[in-house]
Amino acid sequence: MILDHKFDLGFFPTPLHRLKNLSEKYSPYQIFIKRDDQTGLASGGNKTRKLEYLIQEALDKGCDTIITAGAQQSNHCRQTAAACAIAKLKCHLLLGGTAPQKYNGNLLFSHLLGAEIHFTRENRKGEDTETLKQQLELEGKKPFVIPYGGSNFIGALGFVIAVKELKAQLIAQNLKIDYLFFASSSGGTQAGLTLGNDLYILNMNLVPIGIDKSEMQGMRLEEVVLNLVNEGKHLLKIKKEYRLADVKINNDYNEAGYGIITENEKAAIKELAQNEGILLDPVYTGRAFYAMMDYLKKGKIPLNSTILFWHTGGLPANFYYADQLK
Ligand SMILES: Cc1ncc(COP(=O)(O)O)c(C=O)c1O
Repeated sequence: MILDHKFDLGFFPTPLHRLKNLSEKYSPYQIFIKRDDQTGLASGGNKTRKLEYLIQEALDKGCDTIITAGAQQSNHCRQTAAACAIAKLKCHLLLGGTAPQKYNGNLLFSHLLGAEIHFTRENRKGEDTETLKQQLELEGKKPFVIPYGGSNFIGALGFVIAVKELKAQLIAQNLKIDYLFFASSSGGTQAGLTLGNDLYILNMNLVPIGIDKSEMQGMRLEEVVLNLVNEGKHLLKIKKEYRLADVKINNDYNEAGYGIITENEKAAIKELAQNEGILLDPVYTGRAFYAMMDYLKKGKIPLNSTILFWHTGGLPANFYYADQLK
């Protein structure tokens, strides 16, 4: 089975537990959290799940070098650097902007994890990948490119199997989830959760919160997700027809733009930290958690629903944004 062919990188299952104080505060909603901030790979996060499949593919192809791209505070790049260290692969990161005086947060961790960092100015979504790949090939290397955010259908398999993991936990805890909130940015997490939800018949209403309003390779995120879902469904032998109209992303909370911290993200971080002792990140989970709070406060979903927030990690970015979070 394709889902079993992966390179172990994380500690699974990640915990699933109730947010006791927030469930009281937002009663009659019941709120649970899935702790992918605890995947264990160099401070955790959702990309660990994708990387288990992507690194396996690189090894299967006999590659010795990984290239991936992102922002300087990319959690994906930091976890890729960690995965490469474990798999004994050389890691090249193409990060937007210019070299800062001081390394902090994810950039510092990527450096400590041994990645070779290339600063690519306005390009933060892998626009320079092909040039670097050719250069490395000329040097006799066998590079493997992991796309921006680890989001191709191979990476998305990590979130298909994550739903299988969740299902076992829900059965054990005698729970049913009505609404699942999570941050969606490069589409792989959403594509995997969509396919997993159908494959394992969990019937959750997915509420993906858009983080980045800019397009990817000229496509809207909805189109990216649909393409990933359609590629993945053949592999998994899922019969369902998916249409663009079925891919829903709520973009009401990303007006400020990617990586711009507003009072919303700050409020969400404090809400979860001060009620439950759990830390979010300011770019992704802070934004998605704020959206969830807003839904619950405004009664946008039926009362008495059971809600799951999928914590996708991102802790190191808090240090980079420290001045704005005070
Ligand atoms: C902490 C965190 N949450 C959520 C996401 C979004 O996941 P995806 O890119 O698969 O949509 C990311 C992506 O970088 C992330 O770092």
